[in-house]
Amino acid sequence: MIKNKTILITGGAGFIGSIMAETLFKENKITVLDNFSGGNLKNLSPFKDHVKIIEGDIRREETFEKLKDDFDLVIHFAANSDVRSGSTDTKSDMEINVIGTHNLLEYMRKRDVKDLIFSSTSTVYGEASIIPTPENYGPELPISLYGASKLANEGFIWSYFHYYGIKPTIFRFANIVGRNSTHGVIHDFIIKLKKDPQNLEILGDGRQEKSYMHVDDCVDAMIHIYERNKSGDVVNLGNDQRTSVTRIANVVVEKMGLKNVKFHYTGGIDGRGWAGDIKIAQLSIEKMKAYGWNNRYDSDQSVVRATEEIVGQMK
Ligand SMILES: NC(=O)c1ccc[n+]([C@@H]2O[C@H](COP(=O)([O-])OP(=O)(O)OC[C@H]3O[C@@H](n4cnc5c(N)ncnc54)[C@H](O)[C@@H]3O)[C@@H](O)[C@H]2O)c1
Repeated sequence: MIKNKTILITGGAGFIGSIMAETLFKENKITVLDNFSGGNLKNLSPFKDHVKIIEGDIRREETFEKLKDDFDLVIHFAANSDVRSGSTDTKSDMEINVIGTHNLLEYMRKRDVKDLIFSSTSTVYGEASIIPTPENYGPELPISLYGASKLANEGFIWSYFHYYGIKPTIFRFANIVGRNSTHGVIHDFIIKLKKDPQNLEILGDGRQEKSYMHVDDCVDAMIHIYERNKSGDVVNLGNDQRTSVTRIANVVVEKMGLKNVKFHYTGGIDGRGWAGDIKIAQLSIEKMKAYGWNNRYDSDQSVVRATEEIVGQMK
């Protein structure tokens, strides 16, 4: 467990960031930096008096002047986390993810902060020909602006490591699911079914298969691996199995207590949900296991648990 550190969590009011803050606040001094574009103060409310909360936008260099502590570690989650948005909004991934992360790295360089945990993504691999995809797969050819921006982030981070000794622990997440989430397939289905409990529109052909990891497992694995990473590393986090979109639709229908829901598949582009959607995604998690960490929930169990939590929160 990470202990007695002064930690900055960017995007700490968001889905994964808030669970990380909740996990670390008792043993560490936590500052959350967030512009609340996607995050919510509600996620921090059970422990808000025990963390410093700073509202600010990482796109602006001045934001970092608000940070007065000497941080031992930065855990960087703040980002445009919506993979889909890039097909219509071509600026956010560049401005928030690329410029925002560069601003953070400059702040770390100037203030001599030497330790960084970064939340990257399976989308850096693009349409990988090797599945499960290992960390050394290449060339990495992203098919979304989001994936491209995270790959650029990784490049900048490694360069700052080599120039200035900022040690990176980079995690490439599969699909992380659970309470406090604000978007993603489970969320979309619940919202649609609340509007119309008889019919469910499913983007694509429903046969897209991805590997899902519960947020409690994700945060636990991040802490475990960070503590054992001595000289900078990039590690996939995911599961050994995949869950199809239709299977998720069935779980959501069941957990919402609905019956006889008609599924309407859009067909999408070549079965994909949207341009930039990857049809089959599964990461190799051999390196994660070599660090001595194993999942508590498999992919289907992660989806079931997350659906129960999200349905409960959206009541
Ligand atoms: N959830 C997943 O399945 C998944 C998968 C791969 C990678 N990731 C990455 O993990 C990180 C966390 O994802 P999440 O699912 O918790 O997303 P999220 O949207 O819930 O969290 C992102 C947080 O960043 C904040 N933010 C956005 N723009 C900001 C800005 N300009 N300045 C300051 N704060 C800003 C938002 O308000 C939000 O609280 C992101 O970097 C995301 O790209 C997530």
